[in-house]
Amino acid sequence: MKTRITELFGVEHPIMQGGMHYVGFAELAAAVSNAGGVGIITGLTQRTPELLAKEIARCKEMTDKPFGVNLTFLPSVTPPDYPGYVKAIIEGGVKIVETAGNNPQKWLPALKDAGIKVVHKCTSVRHALKAEAIGCDAVSVDGFECGGHPGEDDVPNFILLPRAAEELKIPFLASGGMADGRSLVAALALGADGMNMGTRFIATKEAPVHENVKQAIVAASELDTRLVMRPLRNTERVLVNAGVERLLEKERTLGANLKFEDIFNEVAGVYPKIMTEGDMDAGAWSCGMVAGLIHDIPTCKDLIDRIMAQANGIIRERLAGMV
Ligand SMILES: Cc1cc2nc3c(=O)[nH]c(=O)nc-3n(C[C@H](O)[C@H](O)[C@H](O)COP(=O)(O)O)c2cc1C
Repeated sequence: MKTRITELFGVEHPIMQGGMHYVGFAELAAAVSNAGGVGIITGLTQRTPELLAKEIARCKEMTDKPFGVNLTFLPSVTPPDYPGYVKAIIEGGVKIVETAGNNPQKWLPALKDAGIKVVHKCTSVRHALKAEAIGCDAVSVDGFECGGHPGEDDVPNFILLPRAAEELKIPFLASGGMADGRSLVAALALGADGMNMGTRFIATKEAPVHENVKQAIVAASELDTRLVMRPLRNTERVLVNAGVERLLEKERTLGANLKFEDIFNEVAGVYPKIMTEGDMDAGAWSCGMVAGLIHDIPTCKDLIDRIMAQANGIIRERLAGMV
């Protein structure tokens, strides 16, 4: 399949793996890229720029295909060493960067000078247009159903993607709720040039996370995610568990008085406990409603081959047969 996204990134299939905290290590990024998609290492999961440089080098040992690094800009009291991370990306020879969380304008000149393609992930048409205006090469448009931070507008992809198509000139990926060949064809029909998946890629053989996490996704239905931190305007879609129930109870009880300190135990430092130790009730971890469409744990290659075969089948047989 050839789209503006396969052309932009020089890859075989219009499928990207979004950055995921404590999931997007070199093993997963390399497996996705080797399967013809765009694999992404999560920059901030590496505690220092030096460790990110090592992770990039490790990924290069596992694939000679294009892969990228996610840089998430979070509001924080002591910000991470972003200049150091950008330097590690450029010196590591990475050619694709996924930015998210906040406007990446400050970092674009350095990234573009190094010949890096920047895809900005955002949750609204206005932020997508801003990304286009400041010179991003593409955007990933994350609908309300997505795992992670869906923003505060709550517009699902059936509306958000065609709205993005109406306004954008640069290529864009549909993100949030994507799982299979049906998702890909639907995304293309709504005007996208490819799709980005998070949750689906966690339930793969190569995802270097605890088996409990993969099993929890397979066991979950589309009814099993919750929105947390809404009162703090930092909404996150997570898989329900005992820690999340505790957190939601605090949100209900404290109402408008809720502060981040009140829920610290349920959100801070949770990822290593979940992803590495498999302690599934430790607290809130991102997961999309798409869990309801995930029923197995294939290799990344089997998953991507299956998606492309199904997508081609739908276009050539089911849809062509209707017209
Ligand atoms: C466990 C997990 C961790 C994530 N961590 C990040 C992150 O650190 N930075 C980021 O930009 N997006 C993050 N995301 C969002 C994904 O990159 C992607 O946009 C999202 O999962 C797409 O929705 P889907 O899960 O329905 O496919 C995370 C998602 C999940 C499921």
